[in-house]
Amino acid sequence: MEVLSAASEFFPLSKTGGLGDVVGALPKVLAPLGISTTTLIPAYPGLVEKLSAVSKIAELELLGEKADLLAGSFEDIPILLLDCASLFARPGGPYLNEQGVDHPDNWKRFGALSLAAAYIAAGKGGPWRPDLVHLHDWQTGLAAAYMAALGVKIPIVTTIHNLAFQGQFSADIFTRLGLPASYFSTEYLEYYGDISYLKSGIVLSDAITTVSPTYAREILTDDMGMGLQGVLSERRERLQGIVNGIDTDVWDPAKDPLIPARYDRRSLKRRDINKSEIVERFGLVDDGGPIMSVISRLTWQKGIDILTAVVPGIVDRGAKLVVFGQGDPSLINPLIDLASKYQGRVAVFAGFSEAHAHLLHAGSDIVVQPSRFEPCGLTQLYALRYGAIPIVSRTGGLAETIIDANEAAMAAGVATGFQFNPGSAEDLYHAVDRALRSYEQPDFWRKLQSHAMKADFSWKRSARQYAKIYSRVLRSGPS
Ligand code: ADP
Ligand code: GLC
Repeated sequence: MEVLSAASEFFPLSKTGGLGDVVGALPKVLAPLGISTTTLIPAYPGLVEKLSAVSKIAELELLGEKADLLAGSFEDIPILLLDCASLFARPGGPYLNEQGVDHPDNWKRFGALSLAAAYIAAGKGGPWRPDLVHLHDWQTGLAAAYMAALGVKIPIVTTIHNLAFQGQFSADIFTRLGLPASYFSTEYLEYYGDISYLKSGIVLSDAITTVSPTYAREILTDDMGMGLQGVLSERRERLQGIVNGIDTDVWDPAKDPLIPARYDRRSLKRRDINKSEIVERFGLVDDGGPIMSVISRLTWQKGIDILTAVVPGIVDRGAKLVVFGQGDPSLINPLIDLASKYQGRVAVFAGFSEAHAHLLHAGSDIVVQPSRFEPCGLTQLYALRYGAIPIVSRTGGLAETIIDANEAAMAAGVATGFQFNPGSAEDLYHAVDRALRSYEQPDFWRKLQSHAMKADFSWKRSARQYAKIYSRVLRSGPS
């Protein structure tokens, strides 16, 4: 089976969060199941040079912009790059400019990416044609509309990684997308007077997946459906949650080239070396006490303000905190103030670095994820594998991947972390307190670490679930 996976990120070529990790992992985990995946992504600056055997396979005209479609491979994984300098060769990140503001022409950039995917599916993007198209998030959602408009009869699977990002744009751009006028309707793209690219993926796909079964249920509710609950509910028979796995080659404390001391379950003492490196790199006092870390986009979704409220409590309890990430200055600034108040006990570092992220998992005692909602979350899974104990809010993928260390779960040998009610600083503090009291009992803690490191979040099961969905939609054909 030949699959075209279309996305805006692919780790390690480009990544701003978990989307990149998942899109990067899928081709590898699906290959043993007989599924060959070719991934289409934009040629952001510097990407062409990272591919092997690159050749131009088509010239495309996309929403008035000239583009080349390049075929190549990265570590033997087939990649198609949409090379369109006017849209993608610019400073900043995939979505934001250097000032941290959305690129003003994102509608066109990802409309063009979607149209390129549809052309490939239609056989107009070089010689290769997929049997099935897998779209990820709003950035490629419009491909479903373009495929329908082009009359392409290939099944489509859309994965929602985060319903908070919908690709909602003013209706003014609709005529510039070159779609039939009838698509500006509630059945298709119209969304509260605007248009939504994600809605295109939802209403025109043969199967819709999201990244955990819990989130699949949550997004049907008024509280968490972000305005799309009605559209999703109508298509609930096609909707399934598949929990993300992790790339156990990239995230393996026994082989990780990005950490000073490698270790496994039997050599946990070596984590101390990594912990010392954290103390040094992030300017903490060296008192041997517990280190808690947050490695995250620093946004409202991630509950950063809730964390801020408990920082004094964390420090009072004798723990240290490192916050590492990028995001909303109004959430980061109060943390920076706390870092100067509690010098050596609280460190806040802005930036994006795989090396820092790996080190923080490999040396912190606790990783905190106080998300208000979390479709799946990968950080807590990396934490488990690295023996850093997660404190997570009880929502989405966090609720189902972390087992709270209550008495019963400890007795059964399955507890892996601490949970609290999303949105409540008081509850977060209670979880922090429980975790720190457990940390003071070395036997208890070692057991918890051992359960955590044994938990299996490899892709095996989830890859089979994707393969099943692919087979099903191929059998029943496009609708
Ligand atoms: P989301 O996709 O919502 O941001 P996930 O937990 O699914 O959340 O994935 C986040 C991914 O991004 C993880 O791989 C995490 O390590 C990574 N990440 C987040 N912030 C940073 C950062 N500042 N530097 C490096 N990696 C980061
Ligand atoms: C999104 C979600 C995150 C999920 C990731 C990968 O960014 O916020 O929870 O793990 O996608 O699916």
